[in-house]
Amino acid sequence: MRLKGKIAIVTGGAGGIGQAVSELFAQEGATVVIIDLLPIGKEVADKINDTGGKAVYHSLSVTDKSAVEELFNEVAESYGRIDILINNAGITRDRTLEKMSEEEWNAVVEVNLKGVFLCTQAAVPYMKAQKYGRIVSAASNVGLRGNFGQTNYAATKAGVIAMAKTWTVELGKHGITANAIAPGFTMTDMVKKIPEEHFDAIKASIPLRTVAEPIDIAYGYLYLASDEARFVSGICLTIDGGTSR
Ligand SMILES: NC(=O)c1ccc[n+]([C@@H]2O[C@H](COP(=O)([O-])OP(=O)(O)OC[C@H]3O[C@@H](n4cnc5c(N)ncnc54)[C@H](O)[C@@H]3O)[C@@H](O)[C@H]2O)c1
Repeated sequence: MRLKGKIAIVTGGAGGIGQAVSELFAQEGATVVIIDLLPIGKEVADKINDTGGKAVYHSLSVTDKSAVEELFNEVAESYGRIDILINNAGITRDRTLEKMSEEEWNAVVEVNLKGVFLCTQAAVPYMKAQKYGRIVSAASNVGLRGNFGQTNYAATKAGVIAMAKTWTVELGKHGITANAIAPGFTMTDMVKKIPEEHFDAIKASIPLRTVAEPIDIAYGYLYLASDEARFVSGICLTIDGGTSR
């Protein structure tokens, strides 16, 4: 087991990539704290517990500073530590630059950037005290390449990569690593919004000619969250079938 005894917080862990991460981490021996807005997070945690793993679900927005601080404090008090933070929660509000509203810009920045900032800020004091921490945040290959209709989303995902590099410099001396993962198209609710007829063109643009399943991305999170990656910090691991190169 690669995460035996570790305490891991997974934001947005109720669905898509976050659910795959929660299930995989539990299989690898971590106790998983799932944070999400969707009540189905409880079913995800129940299923993990029913199959021999350990998980708990908390209904919370990553954008709520005091609620985040309260929960992280509760986790640290209950389990004695916070080893791993997976900043996975993210949203899209796609629109071309000229049509994008201020609300659409703010909504995406609020979750994808501020949420990552708040959760990391809440976790770091515990990680520093224990001289150990693994922070892995959800970027996107859109943060490296840009994408039509995603001014807000692309900016936040580039920001996530920059935050991981900054935290590497600030926190490395405390035994904390900070990395990002940049998935390409992955079959989750987020991309199921894309009209079916666009999918053939998307697949044709990917060298491996297929889109990812959530577990393909979860294996990247597992590596960066594990002790095997103890000397890896400040990177953005791209998992996109060869699209970004
Ligand atoms: N699916 C893709 O193709 C893809 C590609 C690149 C990057 N990503 C990134 O990976 C991450 C996961 O994506 P996904 O496709 O699994 O998305 P998803 O929409 O399937 O899941 C995201 C989860 O985050 C939760 N969430 C949203 N806002 C929240 C908030 N304020 N507080 C707590 N939870 C919140 C949602 O309820 C949902 O369960 C996102 O950050 C996304 O930007 C996804």
